[in-house]
This record gives sequence, structure tokens and C-alpha cells, in this order.
Amino acid sequence: MKLEKRPDVDYNKLDEIIVNYSDNLKVFYILKSSIDLKLYDYLNEYKSFEEISDIINIKPILSHYILEILSKIDIIKKKDGLYKNSRLADAYLNTDSLYSKTKGFILAFERVKLWEDLIKTMKGNIKREDNDHFPLIIQVMAENTISGDLYDVVNLVNDLNEFKKAKKFLEIGGGHGFYTIALNDLNPNMEAYVFDLENVIKETKKYIEKYDSKVKTISGDFYIDDFGENYDIIFSSYNPSGKNPDVAKKVHKSLNVGGLFITKQYFPLEKEGNDLKELLDNFEWNLADLTKSRKGKRAYVFKNDLCFKNYISFLEELGFEIIGTHNVLDISPFTTATANDKIIIAKKLK
Ligand SMILES: C[S@@+](CC[C@H](N)C(=O)[O-])C[C@H]1O[C@@H](n2cnc3c(N)ncnc32)[C@H](O)[C@@H]1O
Repeated sequence: MKLEKRPDVDYNKLDEIIVNYSDNLKVFYILKSSIDLKLYDYLNEYKSFEEISDIINIKPILSHYILEILSKIDIIKKKDGLYKNSRLADAYLNTDSLYSKTKGFILAFERVKLWEDLIKTMKGNIKREDNDHFPLIIQVMAENTISGDLYDVVNLVNDLNEFKKAKKFLEIGGGHGFYTIALNDLNPNMEAYVFDLENVIKETKKYIEKYDSKVKTISGDFYIDDFGENYDIIFSSYNPSGKNPDVAKKVHKSLNVGGLFITKQYFPLEKEGNDLKELLDNFEWNLADLTKSRKGKRAYVFKNDLCFKNYISFLEELGFEIIGTHNVLDISPFTTATANDKIIIAKKLK
């Protein structure tokens, strides 16, 4: 063997990929530790890195670099050598804020744990969350909803005549119940119910109490249990039954003639896309034990789900008239929604 020449392919490309992604990972961990240390609770006012070093009990040289890195990515502001929260950090990272997103970060960090020993995870030795995680997921959804599409979706529903006249309202898979809580405030004459799994309803009740609401709850499984009857409006947002034909049949059965089904869901494109984000999401989705849950092979898709076009046709076959469809992003630009998130408003004709 002789060391005569290097391969005629440029190594730098590979180096760039590795450095680029590992740098992103480092920033991710700086963010994680800054949140774990509650750094943003101390940066309401300008402080020096020495003061921060004393408060969070790490070496001044390290607090200096953490603050410099966080100001580089615009999470905090720097003026005259002192540091303070940006408006973004004040709104979402300070734990005292009504809009604090800390539960969402906990979940994101939990998910990253699956990737730390990916071989073990792929071989099934590390479990991905199952339905037991819904109580945490709804706390995350609560954070997203309250700083996201809540107000826009509520306005959309409130503008409908059928809603103004509604006497009985149901939200299926309502979780935190914010949509129903806000809508019941706008139409206090209606009886409003949130339907969800028993272990989640315990959490729902806490939100109902916190927001001083009269919303009632129903514990059940939407694949198994009935919803009751005589509803004027059935609302549903981002839940595993959102594209399921059998659950749509139950919704139809539970609504009064003239009643509305308003549903906001992620509808994947008919064909699987292959941009990096979608590939990563689909890969992560398949780290779960798909035999136990009703998950399909693509992210946010469940067994027997219909695509948007087929779901609409199915609703029409059931006896609904589609009175409106919207892209969530058009209604509410500040959400985490994607181009595939839709709102359907369907009226039961027969
Ligand atoms: C992603 S969260 C959405 C929460 C809320 N609707 C929102 O849009 O923010 C999915 C919700 O569906 C509920 N869910 C999941 N499977 C269910 C089932 N089999 N029966 C009833 N509810 C279920 C979860 O507990 C959770 O509240």
C-alpha cells in the first residue's frame, strides 16, 4: 500500500455537513440549558455576564459565551456590554409569562433523547411516546394554541350564524379545551362539552377551572364511544380521528340537521414528499411502536385516514354540504401550521 494520492472527491463537502449540523446541535443544547437554568427569568433587566454567572452558578467565561451566542441568534439583546431578554424571550421563555412555551421545549428535548442513541431506539430498546403522553401533549398544545391560532379560529366560528344560534356544542379530542372555553364565553347560552380520554379530561378540568368556565366534559374514546346527540356544532382540532371516516360518521349521527361540523386538521399530500423536514418527521414517527397505536406510516397519519380530497367527498356522501374550506395559514399566519393544515366547515343537510 502506498500513500501516493488523495481520492479525487472533495472532502470539504462532508466536513461542511458535519460541522454545520453539529453546530446546530450545540446551539440547541445552549438553548436547552438556558431554559433549564431559567436564565430568561433573570434577564427582565440588563445584566452583565458576571452577574448572570453568580445567579446561575457557572464560570464567568462560560456565562459570557452563552450570552454572546444567545444574542447572536436574537434570543437576547446586548447593549453596552449588558444583556437583556428580547421581546421573543420575554413572551415565550420567561416562565412567568402567560404565553410561556416551556412545556413545548420539554417535549422537544424529550424527543431529541430518542436520537441520542438512535441505534438503540431503532432496535426498539428506547420507547417513543404513546397515548400515555397525551396529558403532556395537551399542555404543549395549550401553549401553542394560546399564542397561536386560538383567536383567529374563534373569530371564524363566531362569525357563523349557526354558531350564534347554537344551543349545544361539542369539541372532540379537545384536550386543553381553549377553543370551547373561548367560544362558550362568546355564546354563553349554549351547553358546551369537551370530549377526550379519561386521563386527559383530568387536565381539561384544570383549564376549565383556571379560566372560570362553565364548559362540561365527557370522558371517552372517540374510536369506541358515542358522542351523544342533538348537537348544533361539533368542533375538532388536530386529533388522531380528524381524517377518520368512522369518526366522521359518528359526528354526522350526533349533529342536528342544519348543524355544523367544523374541523381543523393536518391533511398530508396524497403522495409522500421528500424534503428533509418531511423525511425526518416520517422517520421519527416510525420510531414508535406502530402496532400498538393507530399510527400510519407517515407523520400525523393514522390508520384508515383519508386525504383532504377524499375526506371532503366522504363528508358529502354522508349528507354534508361543504360551506367553507380554509388554509389555516391564511386565517392565522402566526401558528406552527403547515401548508397542509386545513379548516373544513360542513353543514348537515340530511
Ligand atoms: C394533538 S392533541 C390536540 C388538542 C387540541 N384539540 C388542540 O388542537 O390543541 C390530540 C387530542 O386528541 C385526544 N385524543 C387522542 N386519542 C383520543 C381518543 N382515542 N379518544 C378521545 N380523544 C383522543 C388527545 O387526548 C388530545 O387531547
